[in-house]
Amino acid sequence: MEGKEGQAPEEETKSRIHPRNQLNDLTGTEWIKFTRTWFVCDSPRYWKNKNTELHPARYPEELVADFVRFFTKPGGWVLDPFAGSGATLVACRETGRNALGVEINPKYVSTMRQRLSALPMFEESVFPVLGNAAHLQESEFWGQDELQSLPLPRDESGLPQFDFIMTSPPYWSMLRKSRGGVESKQKQRGKQGLDTHYSDSLADLGNIEDYDEFIERLGLIFEGLHPLLKPQRYMTIVVQNLRAPDGEIKPLAWDLTRRLSTAYQFQGERLWCQNTKPLGIWGYPKTFVPNYHHHYCLIFRRVE
Ligand SMILES: C[S@@+](CC[C@H](N)C(=O)[O-])C[C@H]1O[C@@H](n2cnc3c(N)ncnc32)[C@H](O)[C@@H]1O
Repeated sequence: MEGKEGQAPEEETKSRIHPRNQLNDLTGTEWIKFTRTWFVCDSPRYWKNKNTELHPARYPEELVADFVRFFTKPGGWVLDPFAGSGATLVACRETGRNALGVEINPKYVSTMRQRLSALPMFEESVFPVLGNAAHLQESEFWGQDELQSLPLPRDESGLPQFDFIMTSPPYWSMLRKSRGGVESKQKQRGKQGLDTHYSDSLADLGNIEDYDEFIERLGLIFEGLHPLLKPQRYMTIVVQNLRAPDGEIKPLAWDLTRRLSTAYQFQGERLWCQNTKPLGIWGYPKTFVPNYHHHYCLIFRRVE
Protein backbone atom coordinates (compact mmCIF):
# COMPACT_ATOMS: atom_id res chain seq x y z
CA MET A 1 0.00 0.00 0.00
CA GLU A 2 1.34 3.44 -0.86
CA GLY A 3 1.30 6.23 1.69
CA LYS A 4 0.65 9.92 1.05
CA GLU A 5 3.63 11.96 -0.01
CA GLY A 6 6.04 12.24 2.89
CA GLN A 7 4.06 9.78 5.03
CA ALA A 8 5.05 6.15 5.56
CA PRO A 9 2.22 3.65 4.82
CA GLU A 10 2.05 2.48 8.47
CA GLU A 11 1.75 6.08 9.64
CA GLU A 12 -1.17 6.64 7.31
CA THR A 13 -2.93 3.51 8.56
CA LYS A 14 -2.53 4.71 12.12
CA SER A 15 -4.11 8.09 11.44
CA ARG A 16 -7.11 7.26 9.25
CA ILE A 17 -10.27 5.17 9.41
CA HIS A 18 -9.66 1.88 7.66
CA PRO A 19 -12.00 1.42 4.65
CA ARG A 20 -13.00 -2.04 5.96
CA ASN A 21 -13.76 -0.77 9.45
CA GLN A 22 -17.52 -1.29 9.88
CA LEU A 23 -17.46 -1.09 13.66
CA ASN A 24 -16.45 2.48 14.46
CA ASP A 25 -14.94 5.70 13.17
CA LEU A 26 -11.61 5.39 14.98
CA THR A 27 -8.20 5.71 13.44
CA GLY A 28 -5.76 2.82 13.80
CA THR A 29 -4.01 4.55 16.70
CA GLU A 30 -7.27 5.24 18.54
CA TRP A 31 -8.41 1.64 17.98
CA ILE A 32 -5.22 0.14 19.39
CA LYS A 33 -5.23 2.46 22.44
CA PHE A 34 -8.67 1.22 23.43
CA THR A 35 -7.56 -2.43 23.37
CA ARG A 36 -5.32 -2.02 26.42
CA THR A 37 -7.02 -4.08 29.14
CA TRP A 38 -6.99 -1.41 31.84
CA PHE A 39 -7.65 2.31 32.12
CA VAL A 40 -7.91 4.87 34.88
CA CYS A 41 -11.07 6.94 35.04
CA ASP A 42 -11.72 9.13 38.04
CA SER A 43 -14.06 11.35 36.09
CA PRO A 44 -13.72 14.95 37.20
CA ARG A 45 -17.30 15.51 36.01
CA TYR A 46 -18.64 12.61 38.08
CA TRP A 47 -18.97 14.64 41.25
CA LYS A 48 -20.34 17.72 39.56
CA ASN A 49 -23.26 16.23 37.63
CA LYS A 50 -26.44 18.09 38.29
CA ASN A 51 -29.47 16.15 39.61
CA THR A 52 -27.67 12.85 39.99
CA GLU A 53 -26.76 13.04 43.69
CA LEU A 54 -29.78 10.93 44.62
CA HIS A 55 -28.58 7.92 42.65
CA PRO A 56 -26.29 5.77 44.80
CA ALA A 57 -24.14 4.00 42.18
CA ARG A 58 -23.24 5.67 38.92
CA TYR A 59 -20.54 5.19 36.31
CA PRO A 60 -18.79 8.11 34.57
CA GLU A 61 -20.01 9.47 31.25
CA GLU A 62 -16.41 9.64 30.02
CA LEU A 63 -16.08 5.87 30.45
CA VAL A 64 -19.28 5.23 28.48
CA ALA A 65 -18.25 7.65 25.74
CA ASP A 66 -15.04 5.68 25.10
CA PHE A 67 -16.93 2.38 24.82
CA VAL A 68 -19.65 3.83 22.63
CA ARG A 69 -17.05 5.39 20.30
CA PHE A 70 -15.34 2.02 19.95
CA PHE A 71 -18.40 -0.21 19.53
CA THR A 72 -20.60 2.03 17.33
CA LYS A 73 -20.43 4.55 14.55
CA PRO A 74 -22.19 7.91 14.92
CA GLY A 75 -25.93 7.38 14.51
CA GLY A 76 -25.78 3.82 15.93
CA TRP A 77 -28.35 2.60 18.47
CA VAL A 78 -27.35 1.77 22.06
CA LEU A 79 -29.44 0.00 24.73
CA ASP A 80 -28.94 0.38 28.49
CA PRO A 81 -31.32 -1.98 30.34
CA PHE A 82 -30.28 -0.65 33.80
CA ALA A 83 -30.08 3.04 32.96
CA GLY A 84 -30.02 4.57 36.48
CA SER A 85 -29.28 8.29 36.40
CA GLY A 86 -28.60 8.15 32.67
CA ALA A 87 -24.82 8.22 32.17
CA THR A 88 -25.19 6.06 29.05
CA LEU A 89 -27.86 8.30 27.56
CA VAL A 90 -25.91 11.48 28.30
CA ALA A 91 -22.74 10.01 26.74
CA CYS A 92 -24.73 8.91 23.67
CA ARG A 93 -26.21 12.37 23.21
CA GLU A 94 -22.75 13.91 23.54
CA THR A 95 -21.20 11.50 21.02
CA GLY A 96 -24.04 11.59 18.48
CA ARG A 97 -25.44 8.10 19.11
CA ASN A 98 -29.10 7.12 19.55
CA ALA A 99 -30.03 5.36 22.77
CA LEU A 100 -32.80 3.81 24.81
CA GLY A 101 -32.40 3.51 28.58
CA VAL A 102 -34.72 1.32 30.66
CA GLU A 103 -34.97 1.93 34.41
CA ILE A 104 -37.28 0.45 37.04
CA ASN A 105 -37.36 3.44 39.42
CA PRO A 106 -39.60 6.32 38.20
CA LYS A 107 -37.55 8.79 40.24
CA TYR A 108 -34.40 8.02 38.20
CA VAL A 109 -36.37 8.15 34.95
CA SER A 110 -37.26 11.77 35.81
CA THR A 111 -33.62 12.44 36.68
CA MET A 112 -32.63 11.22 33.22
CA ARG A 113 -35.31 13.35 31.54
CA GLN A 114 -34.16 16.47 33.41
CA ARG A 115 -30.51 15.86 32.58
CA LEU A 116 -31.20 15.27 28.89
CA SER A 117 -33.44 18.31 28.57
CA ALA A 118 -30.50 20.47 29.69
CA LEU A 119 -28.23 19.19 26.89
CA PRO A 120 -28.17 20.43 23.30
CA MET A 121 -29.73 18.00 20.80
CA PHE A 122 -28.24 17.18 17.44
CA GLU A 123 -29.46 14.51 15.03
CA GLU A 124 -29.69 11.78 17.62
CA SER A 125 -32.64 10.43 19.60
CA VAL A 126 -32.15 9.47 23.22
CA PHE A 127 -35.01 7.99 25.24
CA PRO A 128 -35.35 7.15 28.95
CA VAL A 129 -38.13 4.60 29.54
CA LEU A 130 -39.73 3.30 32.73
CA GLY A 131 -39.67 -0.51 32.75
CA ASN A 132 -38.36 -3.80 34.05
CA ALA A 133 -35.33 -5.17 32.18
CA ALA A 134 -36.76 -8.69 32.65
CA HIS A 135 -39.54 -7.77 30.19
CA LEU A 136 -37.34 -6.57 27.32
CA GLN A 137 -37.43 -10.00 25.71
CA GLU A 138 -41.25 -9.85 25.41
CA SER A 139 -42.79 -8.44 22.23
CA GLU A 140 -45.62 -6.94 24.36
CA PHE A 141 -43.03 -4.66 25.99
CA TRP A 142 -42.03 -3.21 22.62
CA GLY A 143 -45.66 -3.03 21.47
CA GLN A 144 -46.58 -0.44 24.14
CA ASP A 145 -47.90 2.80 22.62
CA GLU A 146 -45.05 4.84 24.15
CA LEU A 147 -42.43 2.62 22.49
CA GLN A 148 -44.24 1.96 19.21
CA SER A 149 -43.92 5.62 18.34
CA LEU A 150 -40.12 5.71 18.80
CA PRO A 151 -37.92 5.63 15.67
CA LEU A 152 -36.16 2.40 16.76
CA PRO A 153 -34.79 0.15 14.00
CA ARG A 154 -36.84 -3.08 14.14
CA ASP A 155 -36.65 -6.55 12.56
CA GLU A 156 -39.55 -8.25 10.68
CA SER A 157 -41.05 -9.47 13.98
CA GLY A 158 -41.10 -5.92 15.39
CA LEU A 159 -38.23 -6.41 17.85
CA PRO A 160 -35.79 -3.48 18.03
CA GLN A 161 -32.24 -4.09 16.83
CA PHE A 162 -29.39 -2.43 18.70
CA ASP A 163 -25.78 -1.94 17.62
CA PHE A 164 -24.43 -2.08 21.16
CA ILE A 165 -25.56 -2.78 24.72
CA MET A 166 -23.78 -0.81 27.47
CA THR A 167 -24.83 -1.13 31.08
CA SER A 168 -24.07 -1.65 34.73
CA PRO A 169 -26.60 -3.71 36.72
CA PRO A 170 -27.01 -3.67 40.51
CA TYR A 171 -24.01 -5.27 42.18
CA TRP A 172 -26.17 -7.91 43.93
CA SER A 173 -27.74 -6.45 47.13
CA MET A 174 -24.45 -4.86 48.25
CA LEU A 175 -25.99 -1.40 48.70
CA ARG A 176 -28.23 -2.87 51.40
CA LYS A 177 -25.41 -4.50 53.33
CA SER A 178 -23.82 -2.62 56.18
CA ARG A 179 -20.09 -3.08 56.62
CA GLY A 180 -20.36 -2.23 60.31
CA GLY A 181 -17.82 -0.30 62.33
CA VAL A 182 -16.51 2.02 59.67
CA GLU A 183 -18.42 4.99 58.28
CA SER A 184 -19.03 3.82 54.71
CA LYS A 185 -19.95 6.05 51.78
CA GLN A 186 -23.50 4.70 51.91
CA LYS A 187 -23.81 5.56 55.62
CA GLN A 188 -22.66 9.10 54.89
CA ARG A 189 -25.21 9.32 52.07
CA GLY A 190 -27.98 8.15 54.41
CA LYS A 191 -27.14 10.95 56.85
CA GLN A 192 -27.46 13.47 54.01
CA GLY A 193 -30.91 12.18 53.06
CA LEU A 194 -29.69 10.72 49.74
CA ASP A 195 -30.77 7.30 48.42
CA THR A 196 -28.71 4.46 49.86
CA HIS A 197 -30.37 1.78 47.71
CA TYR A 198 -32.30 1.88 44.43
CA SER A 199 -35.89 1.04 45.42
CA ASP A 200 -38.07 -1.33 47.45
CA SER A 201 -39.51 -3.04 44.37
CA LEU A 202 -39.31 -6.84 44.33
CA ALA A 203 -38.40 -6.66 40.63
CA ASP A 204 -35.34 -4.51 41.50
CA LEU A 205 -32.37 -6.88 41.24
CA GLY A 206 -30.64 -4.92 43.98
CA ASN A 207 -33.14 -6.41 46.43
CA ILE A 208 -32.36 -10.10 45.80
CA GLU A 209 -30.86 -11.50 48.98
CA ASP A 210 -29.62 -14.85 47.69
CA TYR A 211 -26.45 -14.53 45.57
CA ASP A 212 -27.06 -17.57 43.34
CA GLU A 213 -30.62 -16.45 42.66
CA PHE A 214 -29.27 -13.00 41.77
CA ILE A 215 -26.78 -14.45 39.25
CA GLU A 216 -29.52 -16.58 37.70
CA ARG A 217 -32.05 -13.74 37.34
CA LEU A 218 -29.39 -11.39 35.98
CA GLY A 219 -28.24 -14.11 33.58
CA LEU A 220 -31.80 -14.63 32.32
CA ILE A 221 -32.17 -10.89 31.66
CA PHE A 222 -28.97 -10.70 29.59
CA GLU A 223 -29.82 -13.92 27.73
CA GLY A 224 -33.19 -12.35 26.90
CA LEU A 225 -31.41 -9.37 25.28
CA HIS A 226 -29.69 -11.64 22.73
CA PRO A 227 -32.33 -11.19 19.97
CA LEU A 228 -32.22 -7.39 20.47
CA LEU A 229 -28.51 -7.19 19.66
CA LYS A 230 -27.59 -7.27 15.98
CA PRO A 231 -25.51 -10.34 14.99
CA GLN A 232 -21.75 -9.87 15.44
CA ARG A 233 -22.28 -6.84 17.68
CA TYR A 234 -21.09 -6.32 21.27
CA MET A 235 -22.39 -5.91 24.82
CA THR A 236 -20.39 -4.39 27.69
CA ILE A 237 -21.42 -5.07 31.30
CA VAL A 238 -19.69 -3.16 34.10
CA VAL A 239 -19.54 -5.08 37.40
CA GLN A 240 -17.23 -5.69 40.33
CA ASN A 241 -16.18 -8.63 42.46
CA LEU A 242 -17.60 -8.09 45.93
CA ARG A 243 -16.76 -8.74 49.53
CA ALA A 244 -19.86 -9.69 51.50
CA PRO A 245 -20.07 -8.46 55.12
CA ASP A 246 -19.31 -12.00 56.39
CA GLY A 247 -15.93 -11.73 54.63
CA GLU A 248 -16.69 -14.05 51.71
CA ILE A 249 -15.65 -12.75 48.31
CA LYS A 250 -18.37 -13.10 45.68
CA PRO A 251 -16.65 -13.08 42.28
CA LEU A 252 -19.61 -11.47 40.52
CA ALA A 253 -17.63 -10.56 37.40
CA TRP A 254 -16.38 -14.10 36.94
CA ASP A 255 -19.68 -15.81 37.85
CA LEU A 256 -21.63 -13.62 35.43
CA THR A 257 -19.11 -14.24 32.65
CA ARG A 258 -19.48 -17.99 33.06
CA ARG A 259 -23.29 -17.72 33.28
CA LEU A 260 -23.48 -15.78 29.99
CA SER A 261 -20.94 -17.73 28.00
CA THR A 262 -23.51 -20.09 26.46
CA ALA A 263 -25.51 -17.23 24.94
CA TYR A 264 -22.62 -14.92 24.02
CA GLN A 265 -18.95 -15.26 23.20
CA PHE A 266 -16.86 -13.63 25.94
CA GLN A 267 -14.34 -11.32 24.27
CA GLY A 268 -12.34 -10.24 27.31
CA GLU A 269 -12.34 -7.49 29.87
CA ARG A 270 -11.11 -3.96 30.41
CA LEU A 271 -10.40 -2.97 33.97
CA TRP A 272 -11.73 0.40 35.06
CA CYS A 273 -9.31 1.56 37.79
CA GLN A 274 -10.21 4.30 40.27
CA ASN A 275 -7.08 6.04 41.46
CA THR A 276 -8.42 8.84 43.67
CA LYS A 277 -11.02 6.94 45.71
CA PRO A 278 -10.15 7.10 49.42
CA LEU A 279 -8.86 3.86 50.96
CA GLY A 280 -11.02 2.33 53.71
CA ILE A 281 -9.33 0.82 56.77
CA TRP A 282 -11.27 -2.44 56.66
CA GLY A 283 -9.19 -5.30 58.09
CA TYR A 284 -6.26 -3.57 59.74
CA PRO A 285 -4.38 -4.81 61.81
CA LYS A 286 -5.57 -8.43 61.61
CA THR A 287 -6.95 -9.38 58.23
CA PHE A 288 -6.29 -8.75 54.56
CA VAL A 289 -9.37 -7.00 53.20
CA PRO A 290 -9.05 -5.60 49.67
CA ASN A 291 -10.06 -2.08 48.83
CA TYR A 292 -11.88 -2.83 45.59
CA HIS A 293 -11.03 0.19 43.46
CA HIS A 294 -11.46 -1.48 40.11
CA HIS A 295 -14.43 -2.70 38.12
CA TYR A 296 -14.62 -5.16 35.23
CA CYS A 297 -15.98 -3.94 31.91
CA LEU A 298 -16.91 -7.36 30.50
CA ILE A 299 -17.17 -7.51 26.73
CA PHE A 300 -19.44 -10.08 25.07
CA ARG A 301 -20.31 -10.62 21.43
CA ARG A 302 -23.37 -12.07 19.75
CA VAL A 303 -21.78 -14.52 17.32
CA GLU A 304 -24.91 -16.33 16.08
C1 LIG B 1 -25.67 0.32 38.94
S1 LIG B 1 -27.16 1.19 38.68
C2 LIG B 1 -26.95 1.88 37.07
C3 LIG B 1 -26.32 3.23 37.16
C4 LIG B 1 -26.11 3.90 35.82
N1 LIG B 1 -25.11 3.22 35.02
C5 LIG B 1 -25.69 5.35 36.05
O1 LIG B 1 -24.50 5.68 35.81
O2 LIG B 1 -26.50 6.12 36.54
C6 LIG B 1 -28.35 -0.08 38.39
C7 LIG B 1 -29.75 0.45 38.11
O3 LIG B 1 -30.58 -0.67 37.77
C8 LIG B 1 -31.91 -0.37 38.22
N2 LIG B 1 -32.65 -1.65 38.23
C9 LIG B 1 -32.65 -2.62 39.18
N3 LIG B 1 -33.44 -3.65 38.80
C10 LIG B 1 -33.94 -3.33 37.58
C11 LIG B 1 -34.79 -3.99 36.66
N4 LIG B 1 -35.30 -5.21 36.92
N5 LIG B 1 -35.09 -3.38 35.48
C12 LIG B 1 -34.57 -2.14 35.19
N6 LIG B 1 -33.77 -1.45 36.03
C13 LIG B 1 -33.45 -2.05 37.21
C14 LIG B 1 -31.71 0.31 39.56
O4 LIG B 1 -32.81 1.10 39.93
C15 LIG B 1 -30.44 1.14 39.30
O5 LIG B 1 -30.76 2.46 38.93
